[in-house]
Amino acid sequence: MKRPVAYVAGTGRGIPAKVMTNHDFAALGLDTSHEWIFERTGIVERRIAAPEETTCSMAVTAAKQAMARAGVHAGELDAIVLSTATPDRLLPATAVDLQAQLGATRAAAFDLSAACTGWLYAMTVAEGLMHSGAIETALVVGAEKMSAITDWQDRSTCVLFGDGAGAVVLKRTQNGAHCGILSTFMRSDGTLAELLWRPAGGAAVPFSDAVLQDRTSYVKMAGREVFKHAVRQMSEACDRALDAAKLTGSDIDVLIPHQANNRIIEATAKHAGIPMDKVYVNVDRFGNTSSASIPIAIDEAFERGRLRPGSTALLCAFGAGFTWGSMVIRF
Ligand code: COA
Repeated sequence: MKRPVAYVAGTGRGIPAKVMTNHDFAALGLDTSHEWIFERTGIVERRIAAPEETTCSMAVTAAKQAMARAGVHAGELDAIVLSTATPDRLLPATAVDLQAQLGATRAAAFDLSAACTGWLYAMTVAEGLMHSGAIETALVVGAEKMSAITDWQDRSTCVLFGDGAGAVVLKRTQNGAHCGILSTFMRSDGTLAELLWRPAGGAAVPFSDAVLQDRTSYVKMAGREVFKHAVRQMSEACDRALDAAKLTGSDIDVLIPHQANNRIIEATAKHAGIPMDKVYVNVDRFGNTSSASIPIAIDEAFERGRLRPGSTALLCAFGAGFTWGSMVIRF
């Protein structure tokens, strides 16, 4: 096992107040039901941002809480890495809005785009910057306003997603530390991009009347296909991070998987040999918040006593791209 280079010094989350239950979809005229959604996904409700709430504003709330808990002020941040599939605008990055609002005058700030796996990628990038000696302290955020890119007329996708942000302060370890990131794993397969994507609205097919008409700037997904890949790649991700840390499922105190679907979570836990009472699940209350889901879950798990200083956690995610990844971390 390698000596950890980076450790989590504080966690936070920024969650919209508005709760939307499965029953609320009837009011939108959608032909769906609580039973259908709950049986297939485990989702009961999700949070939906108010019009004035943005990816950045949720990130600010999460970041301030993480910084307060870490005892780190804005001037100490060397880097802000913000993972999002829903930037507030395409140029410049949402991370610089966060940098400005925090007053993090010494920080580099950039967005990272790897869909639901994005926060794990962002953690790995920040850890790498610490390993190189370039930075000492980073804010690593996953923030998503998924409600802005989901098609509220498409019952096969809009019932799955929710809004929110999670953040951690990551710091470089002192020599001889035993807590921190113990292993990481990242993969991708862009040949499968069209199974989960927004076909239009970027530089290749810019916004136009036709795009608005066709609704091709919203998320499109081949649910069944995505499900199969998610189960396979989440399982592979668990194996790789455990192998790299020279651990097995029985060494793990808490499994925190990306919160997309209860059935995917259960299959992943079974493969990793981790009983469900060691798995943190909040997909029932938040739906799929893409790259915000793992840092939100970590923050909640600390608050609820499911994670403690010294806990060893396995994190794994899968998302559009496809991308997938994992991490073993001792808190
Ligand atoms: N309410 C009611 N019926 C719905 C529905 C909804 N919200 N959404 C789809 N349906 C219908 C479909 O139209 C289809 O009807 P048909 O048989 O008449 O054509 C039927 O339900 C079955 O659809 P299907 O897509 O095959 O269902 P499924 O059992 O695969 O479940 C998902 C759909 C989306 C829940 C499931 O495929 C899934 O979880 N996939 C992974 C999604 C995911 O996690 N993506 C993010 C990865 S990060």
